[in-house]
Amino acid sequence: MKTNGGSDAAKRNAGESAVEAVTDGMIVGLGTGSTAAHAIRALGRKVDAGLDIQGVTTSFQSRELAREAEIPLVELDEVVEIDVAIDGADQFSGPHLVKGGGAAHAREKVVDAAASRLLVVADPSKFAKQLDHPVPVEVLPAARRTVAADVRGLGGDPTLRDAERKDGPVVTDNGNIVLDCDFGRIGSPAELAEELSALPGVLEHGLFVGMADEVHVGSEDGVEVQEF
Ligand code: A5P
Repeated sequence: MKTNGGSDAAKRNAGESAVEAVTDGMIVGLGTGSTAAHAIRALGRKVDAGLDIQGVTTSFQSRELAREAEIPLVELDEVVEIDVAIDGADQFSGPHLVKGGGAAHAREKVVDAAASRLLVVADPSKFAKQLDHPVPVEVLPAARRTVAADVRGLGGDPTLRDAERKDGPVVTDNGNIVLDCDFGRIGSPAELAEELSALPGVLEHGLFVGMADEVHVGSEDGVEVQEF
């Protein structure tokens, strides 16, 4: 599993804090990444102790972890509403997020948007006063050059994400590729999100504007919860 950001202890504290919000009968969105993984494992322990929930996964990775943790699962295409989603972020500024460091942001956005409450789990290194993390954009492979040109037209600098331990690009769970698009400081996340969504060939981008209800920021020795 890729890891970035802060310590494992900080991520674990964040993940375990968010799981406290889960109660019997809930449908729970299970996010992707090293911080959400701690939440999935903690949920598994609660299920083992008798918690009655169903999980909806956001990626190949979160499905594998949820199966290992023996969390009962329901398919995304079988649910309309999700009670709570717990997901990581590459950067957060208030309720605004950049996601997609693990190339799972298309499915994450569907799950997180369908959730009545989105609880983001992060360590302090993910905080920014103003978002400036490159925005992952999932693109139809055949539209790579046209989307890259469009992104440059919006003032961005796109880079095709390369795979590790495989020649060529990262291929998403949906069979697409990812352009990491550096816009520097993002003055208006909402405006940029609309512009990226309007580009032909873009499946989804990693700007999650105003979507977080809470951010659980873990540190080595505790958790701070920000509510929006
Ligand atoms: C997956 O595509 C991402 O949106 C992750 O949620 C994000 O990269 C956070 O991952 P970490 O918790 O591993 O930093």
